[in-house]
Amino acid sequence: MTLGHTRIRRLAGLLACALSVFGLGCSDPDREILGRLGETEGERFRQGRRAANGCWVCHDLAGTVKKVGPSLLGVYGRRSGMAPAYTGSNAMIGASIVWDDQSLSLFLSNPSGFVPGNRMVSPGIGNSRELADMLFYLRRVTRPGARSPGGA
Ligand code: HEC
Repeated sequence: MTLGHTRIRRLAGLLACALSVFGLGCSDPDREILGRLGETEGERFRQGRRAANGCWVCHDLAGTVKKVGPSLLGVYGRRSGMAPAYTGSNAMIGASIVWDDQSLSLFLSNPSGFVPGNRMVSPGIGNSRELADMLFYLRRVTRPGARSPGGA
């Protein structure tokens, strides 16, 4: 029987889970996402996760918890200001941007410059490397169903 790399990583993830009494990552809500990534990509994901720490204050990035900003669950491919259960500002709705890596990068490197008059009071992320890593993380974590249930 031959096992692909991905499957081996998944098994390793499950094993880490079974060994969680030793403090190994079972409660990490991103364990399934990380299990599918190679070592370099996994490190990039973790860097991006750190860079996104400040975003969680105002957004639920991967769920539907109400905060001052809209949930970013499913943000990729959605039009600006159209998050469910949230009333976007006229500026955000009027901009009618489809969110993808490019538009998010432009917005998050200069939120008030890219969408003048929007309500997000944050300078975004100025460092382009950090921003790219953050988007690497965001793209994966905002995909509906990507996170493992039962995590923090
Ligand atoms: C101080 C609170 C705050 C912080 C911090 C913040 N945001 Fe926001 N964000 C908002 C608010 C409020 C809006 C809604 C803006 C509007 O409708 O005008 C928003 C809008 C957005 C949108 C557009 C959503 C949509 O549905 O069109 C994205 C994407 C976004 N933020 C991503 C981020 C990311 C990524 C970070 C971290 C780098 C971040 N935000 C940090 C408050 C914040």
